[in-house]
Amino acid sequence: MAVLSELVTNAVVHAQTPAGREEIETSFCRGAGGVRIAVDDADETPPTMRAHDDAGGRGLTLVKAYSARWGVRTRRGIGKSVWAIVTAPGERWL
Ligand SMILES: Nc1ncnc2c1ncn2[C@@H]1O[C@H](COP(=O)(O)OP(=O)(O)OP(=O)(O)O)[C@@H](O)[C@H]1O
Ligand SMILES: [Mg+2]
Repeated sequence: MAVLSELVTNAVVHAQTPAGREEIETSFCRGAGGVRIAVDDADETPPTMRAHDDAGGRGLTLVKAYSARWGVRTRRGIGKSVWAIVTAPGERWL
């Protein structure tokens, strides 16, 4: 939940999208050991981890801490897909 919430919040707050392309797409893929969460937006700029300060910068640190792996890939069409794999304790993504 925390991972999903951070990724969606980032897409809402940071994605600079062309008019008419404001939609954010979420998808979930269940694997043997957990779930792959993806949040897509229509901005090509990838997220960049930054040193956190009073104004923020904690989101991706939290995503990294709570996920087994995370990353960004280009999306079919326009924009990007930010993904994270969350596994159950003791499990690994298969
Ligand atoms: N979906 C996105 N599209 C474009 N840029 C992004 C996106 N997500 C994150 N970023 C960039 O990556 C930076 C780091 O994101 P992060 O979530 O760690 O911090 P934050 O959103 O600035 O603060 P916080 O999450 O603590 O409120 C952001 O400041 C932003 O510049
Ligand atoms: Mg954030």
